[in-house]
Amino acid sequence: MTLLTTLSTELDQMAQAGTLKRELPLRTPQGAVVEVEGKGEVIMLASNNYLGLANHPAIVAAAEKAEGDYGYGLASVRFICGTQTIHRILEKRISEFFGMEETILYGSCWNANEGLFQTILTDEDAIISDELNHASIIDGIRLAKCRKERYKNRDVADLRRALDATRDARNRLIMTDGVFSMEGSLAPLPEMVQLAREHGAFLVVDDSHGTGVLGKTGRGTAEELGVFGKIDAYTSTLGKALGGSHGGFTTGPKVLIDYLRQKSRPYLFSNTLPPAVVMGSIAALDLLEKDTSFVDRLRRNTMHFRRGLTERGVRIREGTPSSRSSRGSALGPNALVTARLTRAIARSMAGASARMATTKMPAPVAPPAADSRSGMARMSAVASAIVPR
Ligand SMILES: Cc1ncc(COP(=O)(O)O)c(C=O)c1O
Repeated sequence: MTLLTTLSTELDQMAQAGTLKRELPLRTPQGAVVEVEGKGEVIMLASNNYLGLANHPAIVAAAEKAEGDYGYGLASVRFICGTQTIHRILEKRISEFFGMEETILYGSCWNANEGLFQTILTDEDAIISDELNHASIIDGIRLAKCRKERYKNRDVADLRRALDATRDARNRLIMTDGVFSMEGSLAPLPEMVQLAREHGAFLVVDDSHGTGVLGKTGRGTAEELGVFGKIDAYTSTLGKALGGSHGGFTTGPKVLIDYLRQKSRPYLFSNTLPPAVVMGSIAALDLLEKDTSFVDRLRRNTMHFRRGLTERGVRIREGTPSSRSSRGSALGPNALVTARLTRAIARSMAGASARMATTKMPAPVAPPAADSRSGMARMSAVASAIVPR
């Protein structure tokens, strides 16, 4: 059998099983309401554009100006000739936002995770990772030559077991998502901080879904759970709440970032972020740091959305006690519903959403946005949606 026949057979099997991912071509910018080719206007509940900044005029203007001032691209990695003053400024702004010493930019958070573990851990060390961590963490760990230990999702007792099991390692790194993106549940960071300290382990949080979303000022899951300033390092993305374009970063102690700049392969061997993305991201931080209106609005919209669904009989998964959050995040705990009820959601929203200028429901119900085995669909609210007062 040729390679292509093998692949074609597998694609056919996926189509038959209903697991083939189909893309919805948008004719408009990302937003609370979008136009989908062949379907017309729909409410967008599947994006990670939590703050609605993906098409915000201030960010679009900053990106356009950046192209005029700094050009379209750098045609280089950072250390050869791809660092502009604006890259250093964005790194400083991110460090300040997270209360960290230093930041290193990557082409994506996927690259940040890929470039972390293999760079700083050797076979004398151990990584201890939540079983439901994001794919980029799982792949990043595959590349590392250290010992690997997994603990049950958000299970503090099992994390303690994993720490005990790796007691003899030289250095230990605990890695967790801040927000688990399918469930919307939060990592039990206060307990994890305590355990990491007890065991002398280094705690890293991938806060891709918490950054700009959770906490009073949008500083993420640690702020939400009262342990901001107590996390050793973060990885996160510029591709969700902070403008939704592209780019990621690791932020933490200076020595860690200095080391990554010397040795982290996706940083050393992949192009620098384009000026438009850098300046757009700075503009996103400007908006977020000016006041809490974006975060407040997202929270109000999320509550409105949850209330509306609940009133219409849609079963929503609540936040879990270990999240210690009365507000929950913008995704899961607020808006996770069973897939077999999606028609009910569509009906109720078509009636309720005239003010939102929409006619149809989008189709977020496909893996990985939904889990066909558990029948759960993931939906997220957006700050820029118009919610009746
Ligand atoms: C927890 C987590 N980490 C990393 C990523 C990857 O981010 P990026 O798109 O910047 O590569 C995602 C994206 O879905 C994510 O949810």
